[in-house]
Amino acid sequence: MMQELGGNTAREPCSETRAFRRRWGSRGRAGLVKPLRRSLKDQRVARRCLGMTTFTEAWDRAQRIEGWLTEGQARLLYQTAASVQPDQAIVEIGSHHGRSTVILASAKQNGAKVLAIDPYEDPRWGGGESSLKTFLTNLRVNGLDQDVELRRGYGADVGGSWDGEPVGMVFVDGAHDFPSVNADLSSWLPHLAGGGVVLIHDTYSSPGVTRAVFRHMFGSSVFAYVGSARTLTAFRRKDQALSARLLSGVRMIGKLPWMARNLTVKVALRRNLRAAAVLLGHRSRAMPY
Ligand SMILES: C[S@@+](CC[C@H](N)C(=O)[O-])C[C@H]1O[C@@H](n2cnc3c(N)ncnc32)[C@H](O)[C@@H]1O
Repeated sequence: MMQELGGNTAREPCSETRAFRRRWGSRGRAGLVKPLRRSLKDQRVARRCLGMTTFTEAWDRAQRIEGWLTEGQARLLYQTAASVQPDQAIVEIGSHHGRSTVILASAKQNGAKVLAIDPYEDPRWGGGESSLKTFLTNLRVNGLDQDVELRRGYGADVGGSWDGEPVGMVFVDGAHDFPSVNADLSSWLPHLAGGGVVLIHDTYSSPGVTRAVFRHMFGSSVFAYVGSARTLTAFRRKDQALSARLLSGVRMIGKLPWMARNLTVKVALRRNLRAAAVLLGHRSRAMPY
């Protein structure tokens, strides 16, 4: 298909072929926002055509890196990052070894900045100097070190003094206690541009995260619940009429029984009651995320 469309090195630039125009019009990279709604196959063609990394390639890189992101969650991050405008920033709070960072940096459009924030100082949360080294190595071996700007620090502190680009996406995956997540959200949500998306990992598996997410999003007139991939939830900044606020709220509440199941699984795994976890449909030895 790449050959048929011209490819990046062929005689005719991709965007000038009839097949490309039929699919994407003549809007080039900026046109990737609408195409995200089209089929995955079409996305793959367009991204190859534009010399960008497909999700399959990005996941192939990321899944080799230790972390707590499922393929479905990585796909949601990828699709969101790919739709961020080139003049906007993609902010990640909590990078660890870079599993999610690699997805974001692989998906972003040329020009968009990925800001990775992590203090790398508290081994409790998977931090420390050795994690930092692994993170830098993972970016380098995947050729992404020029695409990511690392800020060593806490999400809330970096957000508090942010005066950079408008923010098109925030991914929150730092500490999971209520005060930290609450502070991270409080300091970054005001920077999120209209139409921008905030994604929060472990919303339905860590009570501190759940509480902070409900505090900021439940009944909100400016954030709409747009969906989730397991415990990763996504909210879009947009004005909400009363009916839409109710709908978002109902969808958020609808996930709580599943959260109760996740917490039960966690307790079962901690007490070595694996059979109980399996009974609840959890076959992995890892905690649910
Ligand atoms: C769950 S891991 C992140 C995993 C990563 N997103 C991935 O997908 O592989 C949590 C990371 O957040 C960092 N961290 C803890 N508290 C933080 C905070 N308040 N702001 C930013 N990073 C934080 C820790 O150092 C750790 O590396």
